[in-house]
Amino acid sequence: MFPEHRPRRLRVSPAMRRLVSETTLRPRQLILPMFVAEGASGPRPISSMPGVVQHTRDSLRAAAVDAVRAGVGGLMVFGVPSTRDAIGSGATDERGILNLALADLRAELGDDTVLMADTCLDEFTDHGHCGVLDERGAVDNDATLDRYAAMALAQAEAGAHLLGPSGMMDGQVGVIRRALDGAGYPDTGILAYSAKYASAFYGPFREAVDSQLQGDRKTYQQDSGNAREALREIELDVAEGADIVMIKPALSYLDVVRAAAETAPVPVAAYNISGEYAMVEAAAANGWLDRERTVLEVLTSIRRAGADLVLTYWAAEAAAWLDRDR
Ligand code: PBG
Repeated sequence: MFPEHRPRRLRVSPAMRRLVSETTLRPRQLILPMFVAEGASGPRPISSMPGVVQHTRDSLRAAAVDAVRAGVGGLMVFGVPSTRDAIGSGATDERGILNLALADLRAELGDDTVLMADTCLDEFTDHGHCGVLDERGAVDNDATLDRYAAMALAQAEAGAHLLGPSGMMDGQVGVIRRALDGAGYPDTGILAYSAKYASAFYGPFREAVDSQLQGDRKTYQQDSGNAREALREIELDVAEGADIVMIKPALSYLDVVRAAAETAPVPVAAYNISGEYAMVEAAAANGWLDRERTVLEVLTSIRRAGADLVLTYWAAEAAAWLDRDR
C-alpha cells in the first residue's frame, strides 16, 4: 500500500486540527500599543494606519477599557506632545501628556491590566532622535541615560507597571533599574526593546507620533543583517535587569525571535509594528487579502517563532475574534 504515511489524517476535521494544533494564540498574549495626543479635541485618524488613532485623554481611557474587556494582556502607551524641545522635557514633566495619560489609565484600570509605557525621547524631542545630541549633533549615549532615568521615574510615579526603553542606548536597562530601585519602585518592571532594528517598516509610526526626525537611527538601532548581535543585546539587557526582552520588528526578524526564545531566560516579546500593520491593511482594503485570516496567520506565526507576547495594533480586535472562535 502506498502512500504508507498519511499526515493528512491529522487534518481531516476541525476537531482533529484543533486537537493537534501546536501553537496557541490567546488574547492575554496580545499587547495593544496606543497613542495619546496632547491638546487634541477628538481622536485623530492616522492615515497610514487605518483604524488606529491619536487619542484624546478621554478617548484613550474608553478604548483602553474596551481592550481590557476584550481580554488583551496589556497596553503600551505612546505620547504625542504639542510642543517639543532639544532634551524632550515633556517626557519627564509630570504634566506631560504621556505621564498624565498613564495616571488616567492606572486610576481607571488599577491592576486589571498591565500598563506599559514607551520610555524613549523621540516623541518629545524637536530633532526626533531617541536621545539628546552632543555639540556635533550626534546622539550622546551617556547624557541620554540621565534623561531615561528621569523619564522612568516619572512613568513609575504615574503608575506604569512596565517600562519599555526603546532607544537602544547602551546601558539603558541598567540605569533605569537602578533609578527605580533607588526611588522605591522595586516592583516596576522593564520590558526591554533589546533587539531593535533600524527598519523601514517604522514609516507609519512616524506619522502616528508626528515625528520630527531628519536622517536615520543607524548609530543606535541595529543593522538588519545582524542576528548574533541581537543575542548580545539580549544578554546585556538580562544582565542589567530586563524582566522581558523584545525583538522589533517581528515579521522580517522571526529567525531572531526564534533564537531569542531558545536562549533568553526571561519571556520574549515581539513587536508587530506599524509597517507590518499598514501592509496588511492596504492589501485587505484593496480586496487582495482576507483581512481576518491574514491577521490571525501573522500573529500565529510570531507565536510559532517563539514569542510569548505579541505587541500588535490588532490586539483588541484579534482578542474578540479569538474569543468568538473558542
Ligand atoms: C521609539 C519607537 C518607535 C517605535 C516604537 N518605539 C519608532 C522608531 O524607533 O523609529 C515603532 C513602532 C511601530 O513602528 O509600530 N520610541
